[in-house]
Amino acid sequence: MFSLNKLFPVFALVAISFLPVAALAADTGHYGIGTTATAKEIAGWDIDVRPDGKGLPKGEGSVAQGEPMYEAKCASCHGSFGEGEDRWPPLAGGEGSLTEDRPEKTVGSYWPYASTLWDYINRAMPFTAPQSLTPHEVYAISAYVLYLNDLVEDDFVLTQSNLASVKMPNVDNFYIDNRPDTNNKRCMKDCKDPSKIVIIKSLSGITPDQNEDSAEAAAEKPKLSESAIAGKATYTTSCLVCHGSGVAGAPTLDDKESWNKRLEQGVDTVVKHAIKGFMGESGMMPPKGGNLSLSDQQVKDAVQYMLEAQ
Ligand code: HEC
Ligand code: HEC
Repeated sequence: MFSLNKLFPVFALVAISFLPVAALAADTGHYGIGTTATAKEIAGWDIDVRPDGKGLPKGEGSVAQGEPMYEAKCASCHGSFGEGEDRWPPLAGGEGSLTEDRPEKTVGSYWPYASTLWDYINRAMPFTAPQSLTPHEVYAISAYVLYLNDLVEDDFVLTQSNLASVKMPNVDNFYIDNRPDTNNKRCMKDCKDPSKIVIIKSLSGITPDQNEDSAEAAAEKPKLSESAIAGKATYTTSCLVCHGSGVAGAPTLDDKESWNKRLEQGVDTVVKHAIKGFMGESGMMPPKGGNLSLSDQQVKDAVQYMLEAQ
């Protein structure tokens, strides 16, 4: 049974452990940004282990030592043989399944390096108590998981010096991706003609397929005239809501037939209709699309965009 008496010391502890943080916050702002990280703080984060074993702490653990630890701390989720309980992830099996429709990716069938196993367990497992294991426990449990995958014998002892030599079956199917992060060349000065930069995003009236073009792509499409480029933003904010999908009888941009017919009355009339509004056969075009803060020129440019973007 819980009693208040038993709980009280816990509360006291929590309160005390918050104190230094509060004191620190007073000196360095809310998040303590701007203070130099101490060597101890850096060591707490710097726990990665590389394929060649760099980063491993001193230690060792055997398959035999790992078995009871795994049973106690891991098997309830990952299964006694690494087969995975219920829907928890399996850690073993799946060899040769990677080319099948439903590949089973496990430590043994998929992972390229034993260091990943050590690092993952050290960093994140058991799920409910990450970073609670000692290096010895991580070595022993890793050895046991390797054993469950038939990658080492039952008398194997995993150490910081032999971990890198454990060869994982799938290692050759990984390669270094040396593509550059971005295909763009770095530009720090006079990169773009400012008049070619258009803002095309707004919160209202955006449908996903109408907004896929980035501002750059729009600016670089050579076939759009200056006026159309300038009009695209107006179109997106004030016209797309109806003309994007054909709401209330508005002709969509790709309805060539309708636009050809409309153009028979001359571009000027079409533009005038957009500025002053008009009642046609299919519905009502409100003056300036209802956005009376637009200048005539802006509406004209938007019409230009609508005609050219077809
Ligand atoms: C409470 C359930 C639970 C326990 C106990 C647990 N794990 Fe896990 N484990 C998980 C879950 C959930 C994931 C998947 C996490 C994710 O994908 O973000 C996982 C993922 C893993 C993976 C990566 C699997 C993969 O292919 O991506 C390994 C390795 C692993 N656990 C090892 C262990 C070891 C070793 C222990 C014991 C020290 C342990 N786990 C204890 C739930 C658990
Ligand atoms: C509330 C819906 C709505 C909005 C917003 C809207 N339109 Fe229209 N628009 C219509 C409808 C409906 C028609 C078709 C009327 C008809 O022919 O029956 C139309 C027709 C047009 C036409 C064809 C005119 C003609 O002579 O046939 C142009 C050009 C046009 N709109 C431009 C714009 C521009 C530019 C904007 C934004 C500034 C805009 N519209 C915003 C509903 C709208």
